[in-house]
Amino acid sequence: MLIRQLQLEGFRRFDAAQLSPLPGFNLVTGDNGSGKTTLLEALHLLAHARSFRGRVRDGLIRQGSEALQVYVEWEDAQGATHRAGLRHTGSAWQARLDGQDVAQLGQLCAALAVVTFEPGSHALVEGSGEVRRRYLDWGMFHVEQRFLPLWRRYARALKQRNSLLRQGGGPALEAWEYELAQAGEALTDLRDAYIEGLRPHLQDMLPRMLPAAESIELGLHPGWRRQEMSLADALLLARERDQALGHTTVGPHRADLRFTLQALPGRAGLSRGQAKQLALALLMAQAAHLAECRGEWPVLQLDDLGSELDRQHQRRVLEMLAETGAQVLVTGTERPSGWPVDVIPAAVFHVEHAQVLGPLPLEE
Ligand SMILES: Nc1ncnc2c1ncn2[C@@H]1O[C@H](COP(=O)(O)OP(=O)(O)OP(=O)(O)O)[C@@H](O)[C@H]1O
Ligand SMILES: [Mg+2]
Repeated sequence: MLIRQLQLEGFRRFDAAQLSPLPGFNLVTGDNGSGKTTLLEALHLLAHARSFRGRVRDGLIRQGSEALQVYVEWEDAQGATHRAGLRHTGSAWQARLDGQDVAQLGQLCAALAVVTFEPGSHALVEGSGEVRRRYLDWGMFHVEQRFLPLWRRYARALKQRNSLLRQGGGPALEAWEYELAQAGEALTDLRDAYIEGLRPHLQDMLPRMLPAAESIELGLHPGWRRQEMSLADALLLARERDQALGHTTVGPHRADLRFTLQALPGRAGLSRGQAKQLALALLMAQAAHLAECRGEWPVLQLDDLGSELDRQHQRRVLEMLAETGAQVLVTGTERPSGWPVDVIPAAVFHVEHAQVLGPLPLEE
């Protein structure tokens, strides 16, 4: 996947700006507050239907503008050109993909694969289970066709069960529980298989990102005590409590990714820097797995790499990224200090006065 052009309008401090990255490494420099992260945020918004810095209505739209717009042009592995655009007012959106109106933002997400590592990414390790479920689901959405229809079935049944619970039960409850259990078990099988596929990539990434961990065990906490009972039994057992609470407390919507590091303490015992390194290993493993399944790398975005990782780690990360051959966007107030001499950026851009300059001539 190769981004040829990114255009933003009414997005944070940008009235109108554009960036035309090259294949390989693209470095975006600029002072604090110049808008570097915003460029990555815009591409991420199109590809994930959400920002990593809050909701559209909470400040993404430029002050004084009615809506933000993002437009992207990219090339797929076969060399075909695609175009996507999104206009968002904070409460309503319109989108187009290859000249057609888009009915669901998921269509843009399916078309554009972008993996972003940013200063908040440690939440993948330290944050709530929801962050890790979103990570798992994003990966599965891109590599497993059966995932989306199953997930929709599950979500629908969950909604029905919750609303019946709040109404005090009723004859339809059992039928919806049956549906929930069927879809939930199948979804969990897919998640298990996905983690199986992810595992070797994570083992491969870990020594470069977090060597101190030595090795990692990755597993799924399915959201109920699966080793002891079926989801149908777990739902039955939880029914009284769920009725009192008004929502379903067991099932894949409560799943979590588990990891155990051989030579380091659990999640809570990691330093912030180690949590970031582990988060980066998880994201890069996911990207590598996607590349293996789909035959093309997602676009990799690394925000503020220089301030996130120490020199040695930066160096290893940059070397690893160069090996992948993926298109990479890296931001920093300056060229990252650990930039290896053999990893030469294909293009450097500079953000200044709400404009993007570049590609600029490369300095020695
Ligand atoms: N809704 C908005 N309208 C106008 N300006 C905004 C809006 N939201 C954010 N900004 C401005 O846009 C800029 C955000 O820039 P961004 O976070 O992308 O900068 P950055 O180059 O990544 O900075 P840093 O180096 O500090 O990470 C800030 O100057 C901020 O004040
Ligand atoms: Mg920034």
